[in-house]
Amino acid sequence: MPDRNDAALDFLSSRRSTPAKTLTTPVPDLEALSEILTIAARVPDHGMLVPWRFCVLQKPQLDKISQIAKDRAIAMGKPDEVVAKAHGQFDRGHLCVAVISSPKDSEKVPQVEQVLSTGAVCVSMVNAALAMGWGAQWISGWISHDAEFAQQALGADPHEFIAGFIYFGTAPDRTPMRARPDLTKLISWPHK
Ligand SMILES: Cc1cc2nc3c(=O)[nH]c(=O)nc-3n(C[C@H](O)[C@H](O)[C@H](O)COP(=O)(O)O)c2cc1C
Repeated sequence: MPDRNDAALDFLSSRRSTPAKTLTTPVPDLEALSEILTIAARVPDHGMLVPWRFCVLQKPQLDKISQIAKDRAIAMGKPDEVVAKAHGQFDRGHLCVAVISSPKDSEKVPQVEQVLSTGAVCVSMVNAALAMGWGAQWISGWISHDAEFAQQALGADPHEFIAGFIYFGTAPDRTPMRARPDLTKLISWPHK
């Protein structure tokens, strides 16, 4: 029989992200964050191309980026509430890692596989933080898909894009559970 890791299975079957709006201080220190990033980088990565990179954003960087988001939203003619949301997403945060998808030239590994690896990084990053007892959530928001913002805020090259912002902090005492998919509609078993 294979060795069952019940602690890991219990974690994976009950894990739940913490809405970023509810995250408070304290946040992981840089040593804890470094452990989280090391775990996050341990994902399937076809051809070992490492098609992603991380930007650590502490409060001063989040303050700067919140202003860039605000200015960009205004320059794009967004309504006031959209400007406020773009600004608030960063302004509210205490610690965040921007995960940048950074595809590499490869004849063997299509770009979509490199992007999938980046998604795996984001999930592992959230899970590592949750397993360490922190709250965490993967957030995007329309501004994360704006190439001009990505360049100004994070120095993203034109071939790169923001896969997500992973926010970290202290979770409230209770995080509401959310509905999970009905697997009977999603799985086709060979015998049915
Ligand atoms: C690519 C991506 C972007 C997301 N962006 C947001 C977002 O901007 N705002 C939000 O509330 N949730 C967003 N989510 C959803 C949350 O990360 C998460 O799935 C949700 O809070 C439920 O988390 P859980 O299933 O881990 O418990 C995003 C998820 C993904 C995969």
